[in-house]
Amino acid sequence: MRAGSGFAVDPEMGASTRRFVNAAWRTWLGLRRPTRRSNIRRLRRRGESPDSLTIRDATVDDIPALARLHVETWNATYAPFGAEGPSVGVRERQWRQRFAAEDPDQCCFVVQRADGALVGFALAHRSDGPEYDGELAKLHLLRDYQRLGIGSRLIGRVARHLLGRGIRSMWLHGDPRNPSCRAWIALGAEKCDPDPDSGSYGWRDISALARRSP
Ligand SMILES: CC(C)(COP(=O)(O)OP(=O)(O)OC[C@H]1O[C@@H](n2cnc3c(N)ncnc32)[C@H](O)[C@@H]1OP(=O)(O)O)[C@@H](O)C(=O)NCCC(=O)NCCS
Repeated sequence: MRAGSGFAVDPEMGASTRRFVNAAWRTWLGLRRPTRRSNIRRLRRRGESPDSLTIRDATVDDIPALARLHVETWNATYAPFGAEGPSVGVRERQWRQRFAAEDPDQCCFVVQRADGALVGFALAHRSDGPEYDGELAKLHLLRDYQRLGIGSRLIGRVARHLLGRGIRSMWLHGDPRNPSCRAWIALGAEKCDPDPDSGSYGWRDISALARRSP
């Protein structure tokens, strides 16, 4: 979720200029992302459909594939901002630490194709922050699988897990230039901070999100 580098938008600019520049980034990058229609066509050509994908709990055995997927999806999202993410080796170590923590509040779900390959993942846990009880720490899909309702299903699974742990609200920290910010709004989140350089969004009540996942 966190872009490693600072925001490229000049902090000396006024708030309305920064808001405009970030919105321009979202629009420009949004146009470069696949549409729902093009992805449905792409999947159909390969004999796949959104219904053929399954969402399940990640296990320790998934770590190598998860680390590779994490690097690929992180780079696809943040490379346009000039950010360089950690290597597969570093990601693998980080995931091993995550799993070793055995935190019952934490959940990690993966999206799996019929041939077994992983195409997306989500990680969430209890939040340290004062305003929201839960944090959606990571959520990524490969480009070919975006805009097909899979992200909504994944967030729904996360929400169900958190609710089961007594966690009723959730936030995420993102980059304000990321076109995915529009997905959070479409899914009922509110911007946590009016600052134009903040990419944080939150849900005060995640029960509606939980209903998005069958
Ligand atoms: C963000 C992401 C997980 C969303 O998952 P998704 O499967 O593509 O989203 P869905 O198809 O479930 O769409 C959910 C809603 O958000 C909207 N939405 C999703 N992506 C959008 C975009 N780029 N622009 C505008 N709206 C978008 C959809 O139209 C839909 O709205 P609706 O419920 O009113 O129809 C996925 O697009 C992704 O992996 N993006 C790249 C990685 C990334 O940016 N991760 C977040 C880091 S903070």
